[in-house]
Amino acid sequence: MTAQIIDGKAFAAKVRGKVAEHVARLKSEHSITPGLAVVLVGEDPASQVYVRSKGKMTVEVGMNSYEHKLEADTSQADLLALINKLNADPAVHGILVQLPLPDHLDEDLVINAIDPAKDVDGFHISNVGLLGTGQKSMVPCTPLGCLMMLRDHHGSLSGLDAVVIGRSNIVGKPMAQLLLGDSCTVTIAHSRTRDLPGVVRRADIVVAAVGRPEMVPGDWIKPGATVIDVGINRIDAPENGEGKTRLVGDCHFDSCAEVAGAITPVPGGVGPMTIACLLANTVTACCRANG
Ligand code: GUN
Repeated sequence: MTAQIIDGKAFAAKVRGKVAEHVARLKSEHSITPGLAVVLVGEDPASQVYVRSKGKMTVEVGMNSYEHKLEADTSQADLLALINKLNADPAVHGILVQLPLPDHLDEDLVINAIDPAKDVDGFHISNVGLLGTGQKSMVPCTPLGCLMMLRDHHGSLSGLDAVVIGRSNIVGKPMAQLLLGDSCTVTIAHSRTRDLPGVVRRADIVVAAVGRPEMVPGDWIKPGATVIDVGINRIDAPENGEGKTRLVGDCHFDSCAEVAGAITPVPGGVGPMTIACLLANTVTACCRANG
């Protein structure tokens, strides 16, 4: 293996440490405690794990955590009523509605009901527009975490060729905007891209966010490129015993690590940075709300 491993877990711990210092100052100097409300509808097991982890880390950095767990058959009106209540609550500085929502709920409508100033996910249409036009906004946590790791590794990203694989609203599109903001030459590749291996081979930076286990092999990677693997996929691992599973990314780690200059592992790469950025966004929202 030649690639440097980008340790997202250690980086995220540093970010959380800075957030905790900032929270302590807000408390001691201004008597303000930032608060994050997380709304979970239904019982999706992966979402339950994420929400629990978010709540735990929110408390660890000294902030208030408000968890709202709603039944899977919660009506749109009841969910919107809760969001309105959280919008009006001065103790709540950040609101996150865990996605995906059950099918009977309109995700766009729900997200756009959140006060954009409390939209710590950066998914509200106002924040999407502000990011796209290079204005001050709430920036989606996963792409923000990726950008922080890239800046830390490269210093300047100016002029680098970046390929983002995946065009989701949560990761692919905002990631492309952020890389463009740092003066990369950006390509967004997706399921209809012709000659995906050829497109990826040109990139100095590859961000894989497709949700397909180990889809990107090492021979797609330009020697020395930086690989940021956003995927978190659970696959069967019979080699570890009957019924066992393990987590893998969207990139085939071993073969990519042979060629890349640097790579994020799964787990321990992008994932911890996402939560750290959520906490940082909550502090940002709290500071903006309090002038
Ligand atoms: N589901 C998967 N990723 C995310 C995220 O970043 N935010 C929210 N709200 N839901 C998600």
